[in-house]
Amino acid sequence: VKSTRPPSPTLVDPTNIESAARIEIPPVPRSKPSADGLPPEVALPAKRVDAFLSDYLETVNLPVNLTDAIRYSLLGPGKRARPLLVWHSFAAVAGDARDPVACLPAAGAVELIHAFSLVHDDLPGLDNDDLRRGRATLHRHTSEATAVLAGDCMLTLAFQLLTERIAPPALAAELCRELALGTNGMIAGQVYDTLGGFGPGVSDEQKLELIHRNKTGMLIRASCRMGAICAGASAGALAAISRYADDLGLVFQIVDDLLDVTQTTEHLGKKAGKDQTAGKLTYPGVFGVERSRQELARLHDESLEVLRPFGGAADPLRKLSDSLATRTR
Ligand code: IPE
Ligand code: IPE
Ligand code: MG
Ligand code: MG
Ligand code: MG
Repeated sequence: VKSTRPPSPTLVDPTNIESAARIEIPPVPRSKPSADGLPPEVALPAKRVDAFLSDYLETVNLPVNLTDAIRYSLLGPGKRARPLLVWHSFAAVAGDARDPVACLPAAGAVELIHAFSLVHDDLPGLDNDDLRRGRATLHRHTSEATAVLAGDCMLTLAFQLLTERIAPPALAAELCRELALGTNGMIAGQVYDTLGGFGPGVSDEQKLELIHRNKTGMLIRASCRMGAICAGASAGALAAISRYADDLGLVFQIVDDLLDVTQTTEHLGKKAGKDQTAGKLTYPGVFGVERSRQELARLHDESLEVLRPFGGAADPLRKLSDSLATRTR
């Protein structure tokens, strides 16, 4: 039977779309937030990831208003914690034997997913926030439709990037699977955080753990594991890196919850004090500030302890854990 399906359309050349008005991109504020107190050798790979992502965006054939929106969210002033975790997990496993530049596409892919998660997290249907990284959230800067579609596109670009830039294909497939697990974990966490859907008889403590381990922990876990996998980690090394990541993932969201109640909007670059108003389950909300700080210290110590087998090669991961546990924004 002859197919009646029309030939698949080729993507229109976005440079020919006159109606695709460019959105205005304000300059990045001078006091660029970074993970606090990181030595340059730990923080610098973030610049390479930004340059890599910026170059990659030049190669994709999409409407200019869409790529402008993606650039606004993806390359704005954030800490780049997840790409740094990819990079330094690679270095912990490979030591001096290989250049972590091999994991740049993986580092870029996790930041694409993170940026997508922030854009959608800020939408009116989720947290309804106007401020992110000291600037208007994407939907306030452009429109809700733009923010939904730019988020969608960053999600798919992450996987496109892995398949185009990682060789051999078996490694690309393994990384795609890790990133898909991390992304779906993040989305599941956002569902618990926003819509509930817990089974019966689940305590607030259990709900909190489920929310945090998923919405923040799973992408941090994917970041660390992807770096380790790129470096050819053994099963034992991958298990140790995963434990580090799980501790750090919880550290990261406990700090985020604490900063929401202890910092100002101006310092954070996102609205402070919003969790209680929105009725969110948070660490300080359930356990109080003091017990949250104790749990944070315990998890931070444990994250350092599990890195012992890697020796000095894991020093950057130790510094990242210190910095992310003590950050103030
Ligand atoms: C904020 O993430 C959202 C959470 C998962 C807590 P970050 O604190 O990493 O945000 P940026 O990228 O530095 O802005
Ligand atoms: C968001 O958690 C986690 C994501 C998956 C984006 P929050 O809602 O607490 O993050 P902020 O405080 O808006 O950055
Ligand atoms: Mg949220
Ligand atoms: Mg939010
Ligand atoms: Mg928060």
